[in-house]
Amino acid sequence: MECYSISRFLLPFFLAVTFAVQFIHCSVTYDRKAILINGQRRILISGSIHYPRSTPDMWEDLIMKAKDGGLDVIDTYVFWNVHEPSQGNYNFEGRYDLVRFLKIVQKSGLYVHLRIGPYVCAEWNFGGFPVWLKYVPGISFRTDNEPFKNAMQGFTEKIVNLMKSENLFESQGGPIILSQIENEYGAQSKLFGAAGRGYMTWAANMAISMGTGVPWVMCKEDDAPDPVINTCNGFYCDAFSPNRPYKPTMWTEAWSGWFTEFGGPIHQRPVQDLAFSVVKFIQKGGSFVNYYMYHGGTNFGRTAGGPFITTSYDYDAPLDEYGLIRQPKHGHLKELHKSIKLCEKALVSADPTITSIGGMQQAHVFSSESGVCAAFLSNYDTQSSARVMFNNMHYNLPPWSISILPDCRNVVFNTAKVGVQTSTMEMQPSSSELYSWETFKEDLSAMDDSSTFSSFGLLEQINVTRDTSDYLWYKTSVDIGSSESFLRGGKELPSLIVQSTGHALHVFINGQLSGSAFGTRENRRFAFSGKVNLRAGTNTIGLLSIAVGLPNVGGHFETWNTGVLGPVVVHGLDQGKLDLSWAKWNYQVGLKGESMNLISPDGISPVEWMQGSLIAQQQQPLTWHKVHFDAPDGDEPLALDMKSMGKGQVWINGQSIGRYWTAYANGNCNGCSYAGTFRPTKCELGCGQPTQRWYHVPRSWLKAKQNLLVLFEELGGDPTQISLVKRSVTNICADVAEYHPMIKNWHIESYGKSEEIRRPRVHLKCSPGQNITSIKFASYGTPLGTCGSFQQGTCHAPNSYSILEKKCVGQQRCAVTISNDNFGHDPCPNVLKHLTVEATCSLSASSTIGPSSRG
Ligand code: GAL
Repeated sequence: MECYSISRFLLPFFLAVTFAVQFIHCSVTYDRKAILINGQRRILISGSIHYPRSTPDMWEDLIMKAKDGGLDVIDTYVFWNVHEPSQGNYNFEGRYDLVRFLKIVQKSGLYVHLRIGPYVCAEWNFGGFPVWLKYVPGISFRTDNEPFKNAMQGFTEKIVNLMKSENLFESQGGPIILSQIENEYGAQSKLFGAAGRGYMTWAANMAISMGTGVPWVMCKEDDAPDPVINTCNGFYCDAFSPNRPYKPTMWTEAWSGWFTEFGGPIHQRPVQDLAFSVVKFIQKGGSFVNYYMYHGGTNFGRTAGGPFITTSYDYDAPLDEYGLIRQPKHGHLKELHKSIKLCEKALVSADPTITSIGGMQQAHVFSSESGVCAAFLSNYDTQSSARVMFNNMHYNLPPWSISILPDCRNVVFNTAKVGVQTSTMEMQPSSSELYSWETFKEDLSAMDDSSTFSSFGLLEQINVTRDTSDYLWYKTSVDIGSSESFLRGGKELPSLIVQSTGHALHVFINGQLSGSAFGTRENRRFAFSGKVNLRAGTNTIGLLSIAVGLPNVGGHFETWNTGVLGPVVVHGLDQGKLDLSWAKWNYQVGLKGESMNLISPDGISPVEWMQGSLIAQQQQPLTWHKVHFDAPDGDEPLALDMKSMGKGQVWINGQSIGRYWTAYANGNCNGCSYAGTFRPTKCELGCGQPTQRWYHVPRSWLKAKQNLLVLFEELGGDPTQISLVKRSVTNICADVAEYHPMIKNWHIESYGKSEEIRRPRVHLKCSPGQNITSIKFASYGTPLGTCGSFQQGTCHAPNSYSILEKKCVGQQRCAVTISNDNFGHDPCPNVLKHLTVEATCSLSASSTIGPSSRG
């Protein structure tokens, strides 16, 4: 950041007196209205992008797309567990290169909000805590506990010192303008009473003592002591005020969508409602908004929290999991940010005056002594539009919407009127073939080799694995006498009941999969209950318990158990029930294939893979599969289509793509209206489909030839159906209304630059490398329907198609002005018309060089 400036006053002297430069000290402060950067109050728009959820080669593109979307600030948590995988050993390489990420933000001219935590929640494994922390003697997380406080202070210092050594704080000329300590501690603090309050105050003071020169915030912590700013997180924050009148009103997590769980639906948040919530906050005097998430990305490896958080952390964010612009979300918010910026002067210099302009309509007016004025006209009615009168003019407000008038006169934006295009993104076949699969059956036989140990009774899983693997085997044996009645048909088969504390379980009897059971995120405890095929003599019982991400939220989640803690009981034997809970159990941490490093792309495989016997191996549980493939052409993002598989993990060239699970989504997918209070269950998608079918394969993990894909399948599945697909924009739609003579000065595109009132235009844009190849629908008139199913209405200009084809086909982008002149004549005078278009995007000729560029 530039921290010096030549004051305007001195400018005339500058040429003569070369050194008459006034240095303004780099500083970030705050007052009741806003954060002040180098003495200037700012309305700041921020977005969360978590660096480990993408690859370093994606960072610049993501940040530039965020900048293009009108952001001023990039927000990220710092993820302790990836930086300190074992106590005292640090890792800041690759995806964990925090400094590199922040320097890219700096280079792009944006600021940073660094949320150090170190507790982060974030649907991240163990809420960001390293698992070793649980085993520090005497520790208790997030409370007034010396071992915990020592460790937390140690990591916070480590990060602050790293930032200081790289001059990254704004006070040093760097991009970091804010830092966060702890995360949403308020509810915990109340629960823990004096210990909670003591810890929270300690955390605030510890942070302040680090002398970063920039303010600290605590989100959702109403008692945050001065000078720490307490901030709001939520779907709406207009009811929030800071705990002291001299602090600014800040929203650190405006949830742009929501996360997904395996077995659950996809949650989407309509952009009209997101924009509405942001303006509702700004019109109350809010001055900082951070979208959580702006880019959600991917929970690679075993970083997903849980249990059961999906590998995709797409979040319905303005940039999708793959880093592509999600339209209309990105574009509509971009328009919103431009409009808010037009109001910045009025917002930072005046307080709002609120007046009623109807039963459910209000005007918030910021009018300063210096003569600047901005107004926000709101309609809270969820059903009906409102025609309101403000400053002697009429304005039309759609339901559940707010209009922005940066000069208290002209509307430049309405939260419910989406003028930007909608893009449909699809997975399309790629040129890469995955041929010649080989398999290796995980070895179940070894019960007593060096990798196992035994104990009487059932052990807690994480205590045993220390989370070095998702998998823990519990194995025991049962002797069945030949006189048992069930063997002679006198009784039905015995049944086995296994109580587990989480998260998933496969039961093997004599090496055969007998059944599986799973918990849920809300209910981690579950029971397996099923008939078991025991035989006379010694039977092995193998319980493969699987952790699917450690909890990231909840009171003292570090104490929550995982694994089979019993009872484990066989029912239906002649003796009645046989309780195995205190039997001798053999334990094996992880899979044989994991300890043999079957995923490694280097060197000679330690095992004999079986070739070409897929028919026999296809549906086999506990099987490793591998294949080589060449990278597809082009630069579209890539994914693996895993719908033919069951559950497991997948690696490419030794890098973990993540956990996969073809669990089908349960939910309520009955449509979604943007109007009315949003909650994640309101707008669900994908019911009855696999929650996650596609798994992001970062381009930078591939080489041109001979990439190694390895997967471990727990249940069965057909790997020959797996394919590598490309993600790209296939269809774009736009629907923009003509200028309405009754609404004064609707949508002035070049507002502030020129007094000229432009006609609205339809803008269409394909991805780079693509062109508009056809117009699927075009109608200037009164067309109906939504993107994908538009229909002509009673009014339709017959040349709509030809005009659009002429202007757009063959172009990467085009713009068509909405006016009668453009369409020859007025197709229906005195009717409000709109121009509605659906177009297809395909690879442009210049990108199709080479025979195999199309799959
Ligand atoms: C918040 C939390 C975030 C994230 C979010 C849900 O409460 O601070 O870290 O977990 O919920 O996505």
